[in-house]
Amino acid sequence: MSRKLMIAGNWKLHLTVEEAVSLAGEIASGLMREDLDILVIPGFLALEPVALSLSSSPVLVGGQNIFWEDQGAYTAEVSGPQLKAAGARYVLIGHSERRQYFNETEKTCRLRLEAALKAGLRPILCVGETLAERESGQAEGVLESQLSGGLAGLEAGQMDQVTIAYEPVWAIGTGLTASEEQAAQAHAYIRGWIGARFDKDVANSTRILYGGSVNPANAAGLLNQPEVDGALVGGASLSAESFLGIIQAA
Ligand code: PGA
Repeated sequence: MSRKLMIAGNWKLHLTVEEAVSLAGEIASGLMREDLDILVIPGFLALEPVALSLSSSPVLVGGQNIFWEDQGAYTAEVSGPQLKAAGARYVLIGHSERRQYFNETEKTCRLRLEAALKAGLRPILCVGETLAERESGQAEGVLESQLSGGLAGLEAGQMDQVTIAYEPVWAIGTGLTASEEQAAQAHAYIRGWIGARFDKDVANSTRILYGGSVNPANAAGLLNQPEVDGALVGGASLSAESFLGIIQAA
């Protein structure tokens, strides 16, 4: 099993270009670990300036979303070739905020995933249940439909480009974190699902990140779970001190 841990910071709708470049610089200069993949995910406007500022650093840059057409009359959309040319290596797909506020569906996730692969970007497919879904016993059913929809028709050989992020919606930006056991259980379910859908080797080599109120204090416990291969961090990625603290805890 050779899954390299990843710590990713999703900056969401925060930071001006100048602030984003400055934060990227602080992260790069404070980084003490070379054994992890570190990814920052700025807003689109800051993506290229941040990527340029990190060009001599191991810190990678990703996009928060991707449109499925390469070009055309699609006002305000951003395509795979544009992201790639701007310096992105990864791209988030189906973040719960996109699903919740912007009508993201399994079908559109699948189209975006295809566009990412076609552009040579590594998709990070986000899945996770709401509190109501968890409380009514539907958590695994939700994961199953998000995984089967988002990865529909994908071949095993393409999975080496794909990262999954388990982000229980009730833990995002709420300060509520999944317990280590809850995270371990959901990650084991996802890995089992991947094994059944593809094969055991794919399951063992697919990186599954946990996201939802990860901070320097809870990171070690979560990242110690054998099925948890890293963290997708929102709020705590907006300060170099807390983001680096999570990296140190990993
Ligand atoms: P949070 O966000 O760390 O602020 O909960 C995580 C995410 O949405 O990726």
